[in-house]
Amino acid sequence: TQEQTLAMVKPDALKNFGAILGAVEAAGFTVGRLRMCQLTPAIAQGFYAVHADRPFFGPLTKFMSSGRIVAMELVAPGAIRKWRDLLGPTNSATARQEAPSSLRARFGSDNTRNACHGSDAPETAAQESAFFFNRSIGRCCSGSN
Ligand code: CMP
Repeated sequence: TQEQTLAMVKPDALKNFGAILGAVEAAGFTVGRLRMCQLTPAIAQGFYAVHADRPFFGPLTKFMSSGRIVAMELVAPGAIRKWRDLLGPTNSATARQEAPSSLRARFGSDNTRNACHGSDAPETAAQESAFFFNRSIGRCCSGSN
C-alpha cells in the first residue's frame, strides 16, 4: 500500500538536485508533485513552527530562506521511513560517520545545513505536502513564483 512523504532539497543541496533525484528514482519512489521556489523568512518560520522555541530556529529559518529549495511529494510503500533511511542522521557530520552513502552524508555539511528534509509521520507528511501544494501559487514562495 502506497504512502506519501514530503521531501525537500534544501538551499545547500540545490546544486546537487540531479544526483538527489537520481537517488530518489533508484530507490523506487514516484515523484507525485514537485515545486522549486525560494521561501521567504516568514514562510520558512511557518514551515518549521514546531521548532520555534529551539535555539537553532533563527539560523535554520535564515538558512532555509537563503536560496531556492525543491519540494517533492514522494510516493512508495513505506515512503516516510524509506526516505528518512535514505537521508541518514540529521547531522551531516554524524551521517558521514554512521551512514556514509546517505544523502546527508554526501551533500550536507552540519546539523543545520543538512541537504534534505523528510516528514517524520503520516500526519506531518500530509500537513507539509499541503503547505507546498494546496495553496495558490505565490503564497509559499517569494520572487517570480
Ligand atoms: P529537518 O529534517 O529539516 O528538520 C528540522 C531541521 O532543523 C533539521 O532538519 C535541521 O536542519 C535543523 N536542526 C535539527 N536539530 C538541530 C540542531 N541541534 N542544531 C541545528 N539545527 C538543527
